[in-house]
Amino acid sequence: MAAGTTSAQGALRWDGEHLHALDQTRLPAAEEWLELTGAADTAAAIRRLAIRGAPVIGIAAAYGLAMELAALPGLGTLERAWEELRAARPTAVNLAWAVDRVRGAALGAGPTRMAAAARGEAQLIQAQEDAASVAIAAAGAELLAGTRRVVTHCNTGALATGGTGSALGIVGALHAAGGVEVLVCETRPLLQGARLTVWELGRAGIPHHLVVDAAAPGLIRAGAADAVIVGCDRVAANGDVANKVGTYPLALAARAAGIPFVVAGPTSSIDPALVDGTAIQIEERDADEVRTLAGMDVTVPGTPVRNPAFDVTPADLVTALVTERGVARPPTAARIAELLA
Ligand code: MRU
Repeated sequence: MAAGTTSAQGALRWDGEHLHALDQTRLPAAEEWLELTGAADTAAAIRRLAIRGAPVIGIAAAYGLAMELAALPGLGTLERAWEELRAARPTAVNLAWAVDRVRGAALGAGPTRMAAAARGEAQLIQAQEDAASVAIAAAGAELLAGTRRVVTHCNTGALATGGTGSALGIVGALHAAGGVEVLVCETRPLLQGARLTVWELGRAGIPHHLVVDAAAPGLIRAGAADAVIVGCDRVAANGDVANKVGTYPLALAARAAGIPFVVAGPTSSIDPALVDGTAIQIEERDADEVRTLAGMDVTVPGTPVRNPAFDVTPADLVTALVTERGVARPPTAARIAELLA
């Protein structure tokens, strides 16, 4: 993607020098764009979820590293900014994958070409993730052809991917192919489903109902859905999937009801270095995300809290993993290795 271009519906815009990001913490109330200029502000935006969703945090971090090198090229800058960005969030492997790629390009180019090489790599990553969305939507819609009622969780649309979306891209393709109705889990504690997925589905004219997370398994059991479609933050070599907390109960409900549980994501979300999901680091976020809602206390102040932001669904509950390189159905270690080869 050339400098100055922008992905159609996405949350990121690169102007050739700075990265502009739609502040996802403000949606749906306000559409406010942040102008980011380096590694520190990009990492901060990722940490506070102004920029969120596995593929998008990778793209943003890649630009963060490139912007830092443009301001002060050199090995010291590279290593410091790479470490800061890589540590911004631990679970989505896309983040480490992207900044490792930019670092590799910068090191390979040498001191005088470092900044240009980093920028070029960030733009390439963005273009590849854009293209991945298109391929995932097509492959997922083929896999689920005829499916009319789906459950989804968190937000996996243009806001999260840079392209048209992973799980939500498939939903869009199913809608275009004949119509689909979506049950959207609100996704406590930060309400990515209620705030972001509902906003995106509304703009796309896709029929939907919002449900509290706890309602979804019962609705699946009652026959209200034909499939569950979710995204992923890190897929281990054996097909175990880390995704937004609340995904695992949906997988259990789908298995009990005998409907497909489909995971969608670019291959940048696969971590072949992890044998299985037990080694995936699950981000524990601030207790106040659980203790409060819209700024109001929902519990006794100071109540001890556990706030894991993700859970791990074992591969044997996953019907298929849809990537831009093809579908692993089921996602066995052998099939995943084939996709990455
Ligand atoms: O904490 P978030 O909002 O970054 O979590 C995002 C998710 O869990 C998404 O489902 C995942 O990143 C896939 S985005 C295509």
